[in-house]
This record gives sequence, structure tokens and C-alpha cells, in this order.
Amino acid sequence: MKTAIVYYSAHHGNTRKLAETVAQGRDVTLMDALEVKSADLSGYDLIGFASGIYFGKFHRSVVEFAKNNLPQGKKVFFLATYGGSNGTKAIEEAVRERDAQIVGSFGCKGYDTFGPFKLVGGICKGHPDETDLKNACRFLDGLMKTAEN
Ligand SMILES: Cc1cc2nc3c(=O)[nH]c(=O)nc-3n(C[C@H](O)[C@H](O)[C@H](O)COP(=O)(O)O)c2cc1C
Repeated sequence: MKTAIVYYSAHHGNTRKLAETVAQGRDVTLMDALEVKSADLSGYDLIGFASGIYFGKFHRSVVEFAKNNLPQGKKVFFLATYGGSNGTKAIEEAVRERDAQIVGSFGCKGYDTFGPFKLVGGICKGHPDETDLKNACRFLDGLMKTAEN
């Protein structure tokens, strides 16, 4: 089960932490959407797109990556971290244009010091925490198991 995860993580490295944790001990290739602009994803069984939520959306670098590189008809999942709530609409639209099958979406809180939250020391401090990371691993294991069958 070959899996690729394309991620963007800039604010506090919250999403990177999530992506790196689920990649450990699994056949997962990580790609930073800021560094990798084009890649051949045809050999992957599962493709994940991961991002913090910025102004209600996945970062545009991940959305652009999907638009430019996602082969037709792939199994796709999402990972996100956010201070308030998830926002997968833009990335969902991008992958649907490639007839992707969306097989799951995992989101959890991520430490957020954007704007006024900085004044109060931030929100969701300590997230993603051990429980979040464990849940993310369980999520990916479940997807991998289902995708095998
Ligand atoms: C510029 C900016 C905009 C953000 N906008 C949102 C938002 O609209 N909704 C939300 O829930 N969190 C928002 N956040 C919080 C981030 O989604 C959260 O901290 C996330 O874990 C950051 O991931 P990262 O550390 O991987 O970049 C925003 C953070 C920044 C820096």
C-alpha cells in the first residue's frame, strides 16, 4: 500500500507533526508543497492532502498541487489542523475535478496564535497532542486496510 502525503505547514508546524507522525513506520512518502511543485503520483495507491486551515481553507499551494499533479481516479484523503474548524471545500473541489474517490478526512486542533489569539497566548495550545496523533494513525491504518481490499 503505497501512500503519498502532500502537505503545507507554516504557522507552528502542527500539520507537519501530524503528517510526519502518520508516516512513521508506514509506507508513506511526504512531500512539502512549498518545495515540490510537480510529482508523478501515478504509482501511489492512496494520496493524502494535508494543511493547516488558513482563512477557512487548505493552503493554496496544496490545492494548486492537486490541480496540477493528481492523476485521474485516485483514492484521496485529507488531513487538517485548525484553531477553530476544518475547511476542506476548496481541496475537495480540486480533487473532484480529477474524479478522485474521497475515502476519508481527519482533522484536529492545532496551536493557533493568529491575530488576536496571540494576545491571549494562543488557543489549542499543545495540539496536536498525543491523543490527536494516535487518532490520526488509527485513521490512516483504517484507510490503508480498506484500500487493500
Ligand atoms: C493566517 C492564518 C489564518 C488562519 N485561519 C484560520 C481559520 O480560518 N480557521 C481556523 O480554524 N484556524 C485558522 N488558523 C489557525 C490554523 O489553522 C492552525 O493554527 C493550524 O494548526 C496551523 O497549521 P500549521 O502549524 O501546520 O501551519 C489560521 C492561522 C493563520 C496563521
